[in-house]
Amino acid sequence: MDKIIIEGGKRLSGTIPVSGAKNAALTLLPCALLTDEPLTLRNLPRLADIDGFQHLMNQFGISTMIAGSRPEDFGRVMTLQATRITSSVAPYDLVRKMRASILVLGPMLARMGEATVSLPGGCAIGNRPIDLHLKALEALGAQIELAAGYVRAIAPDGGLPGGRYSFPVVSVGATENALMAAVTARGKSTLHNAAREPEIVDLCKLLVAMGAEIEGIGTSDLVIHGVPRLHGATYMVMPDRIEAGSYACAAAITGGEVTLKGARIEEMEATVQALRDAGVAIEPVAGGLKVASDGKLRPVTLSTAPYPGFATDMQAQLMALVCRAEGSSVLTETIFENRYMHVPELNRMGARIETKGRTAIVHGVEKLTGAEVMATDLRASMSLVIAGLAAEGETQVHRLYHLDRGYERLEEKLALVGAQIERVGSD
Ligand code: EPZ
Repeated sequence: MDKIIIEGGKRLSGTIPVSGAKNAALTLLPCALLTDEPLTLRNLPRLADIDGFQHLMNQFGISTMIAGSRPEDFGRVMTLQATRITSSVAPYDLVRKMRASILVLGPMLARMGEATVSLPGGCAIGNRPIDLHLKALEALGAQIELAAGYVRAIAPDGGLPGGRYSFPVVSVGATENALMAAVTARGKSTLHNAAREPEIVDLCKLLVAMGAEIEGIGTSDLVIHGVPRLHGATYMVMPDRIEAGSYACAAAITGGEVTLKGARIEEMEATVQALRDAGVAIEPVAGGLKVASDGKLRPVTLSTAPYPGFATDMQAQLMALVCRAEGSSVLTETIFENRYMHVPELNRMGARIETKGRTAIVHGVEKLTGAEVMATDLRASMSLVIAGLAAEGETQVHRLYHLDRGYERLEEKLALVGAQIERVGSD
C-alpha cells in the first residue's frame, strides 16, 4: 500500500487550487435518478468516493460519460443519464465500501416508487445510524421494511404523497434523502430543523435548476412543492470548504502564506473565526482566500456544531494546528461519538493531548517530531499530514486510502506551495 513521506519544517507559500466539494458531489450525483434527461455536473473532484458513486450509478443502468477536461474546468465534467433504470437495488458489496450510497434511497424511491439499499455499516468515527433518513421518508408517505441487512422503501401506489417532518437531530444525509424524495411527490412537503450546510444549499440549487420548487433554501425550514417531473441540467459543484479549511491549517502551522483559489469565505465563517482566534490572518482576495501566519499560535476553545457552527469535519485538522499553540486549547466534538482517533497518533509525534469523553484538551508544545503514523479515517489522516508538515524530521503516513477518499492530488497541491512531500508505494 502507498504511503506519504513528509520532511517537515518547510514554510508553505504560494497558491493552492481548491477542488469541487466531495460532500456536495455525493448528493448531486444521485439527482440523475430524478430525470430521464442528461444531468451534467462540472468541477467534480477526482476522488475514490466519486468513482465509487459513478460505479454504483452504472449498477442501476445509468450511463455516465466523463468529458475531456478543458482549461476552464479544473475538476472533471461528468454527464449522467438515467434513461431507463434496470435495477433499483444498491448491493452490500458497494454500499459497505461507501456509506454515502445511502443517498440513492430517496431519489430511487421517487423515480421508481421503490428502492432497496443495503444498510450502511458504521465506520471508524461512529455507528452512523440511518433512522432519521427512514423516519423522514415515512413522514413523506413511504413504507419502510428492514430485512436481511437491507432497507426497502416503497411508495404507496407508486408515488409519494409528501408530508411534514421535524428532525430531532440535524442530519445532513437525512435532509438530503428527504429533499430528493420530496421534489416529485404529489403534494407539499415541509422539513423542520433541516440541515443548512452549504452542500444542502448546493443540492437545492441543482434541484431548482432541474425544475423543483423549494422555499427556505439555506434555512432550517424547507418547503417543497412536488412537481410531476424534473428535467436535465448542467451544474457546477461548489468548492470544497473542508479541503480549503484543511489547507488553511497546513499553511498556518508552517508559518506560511497561501492563497486558496476558489475558496468562498462566506461558506467558512466558523472555520475562519477559529483560525483568526488562533492568531492566523485570513482575508478574502479576488477568487479566493489568503491565509498567513507568523507561526505564533494562540489556543482556542470551541465545540463542533451543525452549520453554521464549527464543522466536525474540521475538528481533527484544527487540533493538529493548535498542538503548536502557546497554551491549552479545549475542543469538544458534539456530532460523532468517536472522532478522536487522530489523538494517539498526534501524541506519538510529541503532542500533549488528553481526551475526556467528547472533550480534548490540547496542551501546546514547542515542537512536534516526525514519526511513522497510521491513518484511521479521512479527516484524522489529514490532521497527521498537517502535523507532519510542521514536525522536525520525517513523517510517514500509512493507509492512504483514507486520504484518497477526500483529498484530490494532496501531495501535488502541497508540493506546489513548497512542502517536501512524496507518495511512495510501500515496500
Ligand atoms: C455528512 O455525513 C458528511 N458526509 C460527513 O462528512 C459530516 O461529518 C456530517 O455530514 C456532519 O456534517 C457526507 O456528506 C457524505 P449526519 P452524515 O447525518 O450525513 C446522527 C467527511 O469527513 N444521525 O449529519 O452521515 C449521526 O450519527 C464526512 O467528509 C442519526 O442519529 O452526517 C451523527 O451523530 C464524515 N441518525 C449526527 O446525526 C441518522 O439517521 C450527524 O450526522 C443520521 C444521522
